[in-house]
Amino acid sequence: AFRRIADSHGRTVDYLRLSVTDRCNLRCMYCWSSEHMQFLQHNDILTYEEILRLVDLVVEMGISKIRLTGGEPFARKNILHLIEQMLMRHPHLDLRLTTNATLLSGKVQALKDAGVRCLNISLDTFNRQKFQHITGRDMLRNVTRAIDEALALDMHVKLNAVALKGINDDELPVFINFAKRNPVDVRFIEFMPMGNCNRWTQDNFWSATDILAAAREYAELTALGAGERKSGPARLYGIEGGKGRLGVISPMSNHFCNDCNRLRITSDGRLRTCLFSDKEYSLRPLLRNPKLGERFIRTVLERANSRKPLGYKILQKMREHTVADKRMNAIGG
Ligand code: GTP
Ligand code: 5AD
Ligand code: SF4
Repeated sequence: AFRRIADSHGRTVDYLRLSVTDRCNLRCMYCWSSEHMQFLQHNDILTYEEILRLVDLVVEMGISKIRLTGGEPFARKNILHLIEQMLMRHPHLDLRLTTNATLLSGKVQALKDAGVRCLNISLDTFNRQKFQHITGRDMLRNVTRAIDEALALDMHVKLNAVALKGINDDELPVFINFAKRNPVDVRFIEFMPMGNCNRWTQDNFWSATDILAAAREYAELTALGAGERKSGPARLYGIEGGKGRLGVISPMSNHFCNDCNRLRITSDGRLRTCLFSDKEYSLRPLLRNPKLGERFIRTVLERANSRKPLGYKILQKMREHTVADKRMNAIGG
């Protein structure tokens, strides 16, 4: 085996978030910065062959968990084929997806057969009108049907709800009840100001601290230790008398950078060592250059990660108005 991917702060990377497309069939208000957002051209996107080659490389370097993100992964043609290929080549790979689940119904069994065990599903509301307001589409039923199918097939399901004060804060008890009745992790994510104009304001920001305080009025919560929490950005709580758990992800008010174990690759093959960082390393020209072998690409990956920033002070950057214009749909969250 090759050297593990380590950085200069003693952190080791074993988790890759791989965006397979920047396209999406929804238009979530917190993700879309403007209506004239441009999509990448087909030729800019890594082909499945290129993705598989990259995956071979990073698995060799110690990546044991890969999460496919988007955009919406199921908005890319034949995504199931890529998933099957990845797991055929790497049967021990922990392959997961983050999806809006609007196109998921009817595909859960195939995912399971391929070897996928975990799905993170984005859902900010259980109310049909509100769903349409937040995402621009009337597709709540598609999502709830897919969730039912996933649970019936014993998939591990995590729900991601972006916390939006004045929009879905009144549904906190609904989400808690859902987690009580079902063996799911319901996680509220602090709204992050991605891009310049995606409607982030002090008024709709709902902090993890406030969410937890409000949740305690509806349920008895028990903080779970690091063992049960594993690594990752979510802080999880057991719910008295419930099957599932409640979690908060607080990129804004609480930093989990110190034990960050992840890399990101955008759908056009740019390596990002941090969600917020301004630095990207374009791997696509390397993958498309027949003169460059695996060793060269491996060295680029190692060098890039050795410069991974220790953290990113998002609140400070906001005060200084220097948050770079990043598109969540391109990075994949
Ligand atoms: P698990 O593997 O199930 O723990 O998934 P995850 O929480 O890493 O992935 P998911 O795609 O469900 O992401 C949930 C939210 O956490 C998204 O809004 C991400 O943008 C956010 N998030 C994940 N990783 C990071 C990170 O490294 N930094 C920041 N700031 N946010 C992150
Ligand atoms: N702030 C917080 N979370 C966001 N997501 C997308 N945009 C934002 C944002 N601005 C979430 C999606 C999905 C996850 C990958 O990222 O809802 O669950
Ligand atoms: Fe699509 Fe996800 Fe962005 Fe919503 S948050 S528009 S589902 S990529």
